[in-house]
Amino acid sequence: MTMMTDSPTRTKEEIRDEILRLTTEYYEVAHAKRPFEPGKTKVAYSGRVYDDAEIRKGVEAVLQYWLTAGPFANEFEATMKKYFGSRAAFLVNSGSSANLLMISTLCSPQVDGHLVAGDEVLTPAVTFPTTLTPIVQNGLVPVFVDCKPGEYDIDVSELENAISPRTKCIFAPHTVGIPCNMDVIMDVAKRHDLWVLEDGCDALGASWDGKMTGTFGAMSSISFYPAHHMTMGEGGMVIVNDNGLRRTCLSIRDWGRDCWCEPGVSNTCGKRFDWQLGQLPRGYDHKYIYSNLGYNLKVTDIQAALGCAQFEKLPAFIEARRSNARYYLENLKQFEEHLILPTVPEKADPSWFGFPITLRDHIDRRAFITFLEDRAIETRLVFGGNILMQPGFLNIPRRVHKSLDGTNVIMNKTLFIGIYPGLNQEMLDFVIESMGEFFSKV
Ligand SMILES: Cc1ncc(COP(=O)(O)O)c(C=O)c1O
Repeated sequence: MTMMTDSPTRTKEEIRDEILRLTTEYYEVAHAKRPFEPGKTKVAYSGRVYDDAEIRKGVEAVLQYWLTAGPFANEFEATMKKYFGSRAAFLVNSGSSANLLMISTLCSPQVDGHLVAGDEVLTPAVTFPTTLTPIVQNGLVPVFVDCKPGEYDIDVSELENAISPRTKCIFAPHTVGIPCNMDVIMDVAKRHDLWVLEDGCDALGASWDGKMTGTFGAMSSISFYPAHHMTMGEGGMVIVNDNGLRRTCLSIRDWGRDCWCEPGVSNTCGKRFDWQLGQLPRGYDHKYIYSNLGYNLKVTDIQAALGCAQFEKLPAFIEARRSNARYYLENLKQFEEHLILPTVPEKADPSWFGFPITLRDHIDRRAFITFLEDRAIETRLVFGGNILMQPGFLNIPRRVHKSLDGTNVIMNKTLFIGIYPGLNQEMLDFVIESMGEFFSKV
């Protein structure tokens, strides 16, 4: 006789609990950490940091099999809305999509003071491609303002000078997690009646003068790609601070539709067959009325479940990034004749994405990077460098404000190394010791 371990008398809850118990057991065996071997173990620039809690939540979401954004997505959006004290928090499938959604929202004719083709957006040339791309895709003209090595964010001292009568928006990324000077940005924006968007993908949890980045602009973006502060695999979010943008933003995320029903729900508005919009006949099903040129940028509930679990760890993640950055700031000072350390403005409390280093003229970046990478110490460049030098961006419409000298130094001499919570003390010391060895031979 066969032993029936999965007896039909077990309830679904009992079976689920057994699966979750086994999930933890599996995690402990399959995902066990190996000891650090200097020169062999990768000292990553970033990566996923998780334990059985994330895997269990993911399994729970699969067992529920809701698939489209559902209970976990609602929970995660509510959590993030509270975290930011914002008007709304909309989950999307990447930080890039979040940027696209923000710019597209500002271009919607539904929005008072919306942007139109030919309007200018002030933004830095040291940028991530998909911070810039939506500006171009929407027919807007990026106006490039320089960045200073060591600071990496848009040079706010040049913002006001860069404004023309067509300038309507500032799109400021908090690059590598160092907050932009929001005093100046908000002051310039207010006096010239400009929209402010923050690309907060690198800076979740950072603050300027005690106020969280992401809460200054009309909207801000977050990325949940594994390199970022918390991850859903792929994912992102738009934080909406300006209540007037909420409905349009949601509409553009969800195909451009006018209806705001949750997936699987009908008639939230109570008059599904009683609308007359555009030139459609009265009573045309609200579910199929489109007030915007939209996309489908939504996530699955499985991704959202991972986000819920990661959020529990966010304060510890941010603190680990800060502590690792502090350690590098203290211990790389000895090499300042060879490199420029990041400068943190007094009012800024970064939530570091990476630790940027700009090499002085006499140091060859390629040799430095090769030396570190040969020791399994991962390095990255500050995204697109001078984005205008990138093959895909050579011919985009643009205006360049003054020179991009600082930007070019960053393109040629800057790199960043990891400070993410997956690094331990031995790894940090190995990085410092390796740099010491390199510089001793210069
Ligand atoms: C500043 C910035 N913006 C946008 C993005 C895009 O995010 P995602 O990779 O989730 O599309 C990134 C990605 O690293 C980024 O660093």
